[in-house]
Amino acid sequence: MASNKLTFVLSTFILLVFQYVPPLDAQLQVGYYNGECSFVEFIIKEEVRKAFIVDRGVAAGLVRMHFHDCFVRGCDASVLIDSTPSNQAEKDAPANNPSLRGFQVIDNAKGRLEFLCPGIVSCADILAFAARDSVEITGGLGYDVPAGRKDGRISLLSEASANLPSPRFGVSQLTQAFANKGLDQNELVTLSGAHTIGRSHCTSFSNRLFNFNTTTAQDPTLDPLFAAQLAQQCPQGSTNNPNLVVPIDPSTPTIMDTAYYGNILANRGLFTSDQSLLTDPSTATQVTQNAQDPSLWRSKFADAMVKMGQIGVLTGGTGEIRVNCRVVNS
Ligand code: HEM
Ligand SMILES: *[C@@H]1O[C@H](CO)[C@@H](O)[C@H](O)[C@H]1NC(C)=O
Repeated sequence: MASNKLTFVLSTFILLVFQYVPPLDAQLQVGYYNGECSFVEFIIKEEVRKAFIVDRGVAAGLVRMHFHDCFVRGCDASVLIDSTPSNQAEKDAPANNPSLRGFQVIDNAKGRLEFLCPGIVSCADILAFAARDSVEITGGLGYDVPAGRKDGRISLLSEASANLPSPRFGVSQLTQAFANKGLDQNELVTLSGAHTIGRSHCTSFSNRLFNFNTTTAQDPTLDPLFAAQLAQQCPQGSTNNPNLVVPIDPSTPTIMDTAYYGNILANRGLFTSDQSLLTDPSTATQVTQNAQDPSLWRSKFADAMVKMGQIGVLTGGTGEIRVNCRVVNS
C-alpha cells in the first residue's frame, strides 16, 4: 500500500515536471551563467571598457552590431561570421561593410571566456551584454540582459540586405521593417534614439546633399546650414570615400542623451529615416516627447533593447556555442 502511494506521488511529480513548458518570452534568463561561469558579464564589461578608453566609437559600433544581428535571423551572432570562399556572409553586406565596427571587442571577450569556461558562453549573448555595457558606458541606463541565446550556423549577405532598414526609408517603410521583427512604432522611435551616438559614412546621407531630385539639389527637409556643413565634410564626388565620416549627433557624439530628438525637431536629423519620423503625426509626437523627457526615453530605450534582444533567439537544443565567433563549429 505504502509503495503504491509512493508510486502515485512520484508519477504525479514526474508528470508535473514534464508538463512544464516555459512560456515563449521567458526562454532567456537574467543571470543565465550564474554558477557555471559567473564572471561572464564582468569580463565582457571589462573588455568593453578597455576598448572604449582607446576608441569611444566602439560603444556605438557594438550597439549597432547588436541591432544588425537581431534583425537578421534573430539575435544569433550571425553578423559575426566571416565570409568564406563558398559563402558571402552578413558582415559583407553594404549595410555592414565597411561601416560595422567593434568585432575585436567580441573576439577578445570570447577568447578570455573560452579560456576560463570553454564551450559555455554564446557569441550572441556576448554581443547582447557588450551592447548593454556600451549603452551604460556612454551614459545610458543600464539594464539586465536575459541570456541563454545559442549561436546560429547560417549567415547570408542577401538576408542582411533584405532585413536591415535603409537610411533612405520613409516612416511607413521603417514601421514595416520593425513590425516584421515584432517591434511597434513607438519602439522604432525609441530605438532610433541610438543615433545620439556614433558616426556615419557620407554615402548614407549624400543623396540629401546633391542631386536630391531633378528640380532640387538639396533635401528641403534638411536645415540648409547643416547641409552646407555636411557638404564640406562630404564633398560631392568623394562621398564614396570610406575614410570620410561625420558624427550623427555632432553636439554630443559619445553621449547617450536625447539630443538626437532635438536635432530632428531642428531639421538636423542626419538620415532621411531620422528626419522622416516627423512626417507621421504619431511618430512626431514621440519625437517631441522623447526630446522633452530624457528620463522617460532612457527607460523606454532600455526596455526596447531588451525586447530587441529577444528577436528570433535560438535556445535550448537549437544552435550551438561557437568556439570562435567568426566561424561556425566544424
Ligand atoms: C530605424 C532604422 C535605422 C536605420 C535606417 C539606420 C541606419 C544607420 C546608418 C546608415 C548608420 C551609419 C552607418 C555608416 O555609414 O557608418 C547608422 C549608424 C548607427 N546606428 Fe542606425 N539605423 C537604424 C536604427 C538603429 C537602431 C535600432 C540602432 C540601435 C538600437 C542603431 C544604432 C546605430 C548606431 C549606434 C550607429 C553608429 C555606429 C558607429 O558609430 O559605428 N540604429 N545607422
Ligand atoms: C523634388 O523635391 C521637392 C521637395 O521634396 C518636391 O516638391 C518636388 O516635387 C520634387 N520634384 C520631383 C521631380 O520629384
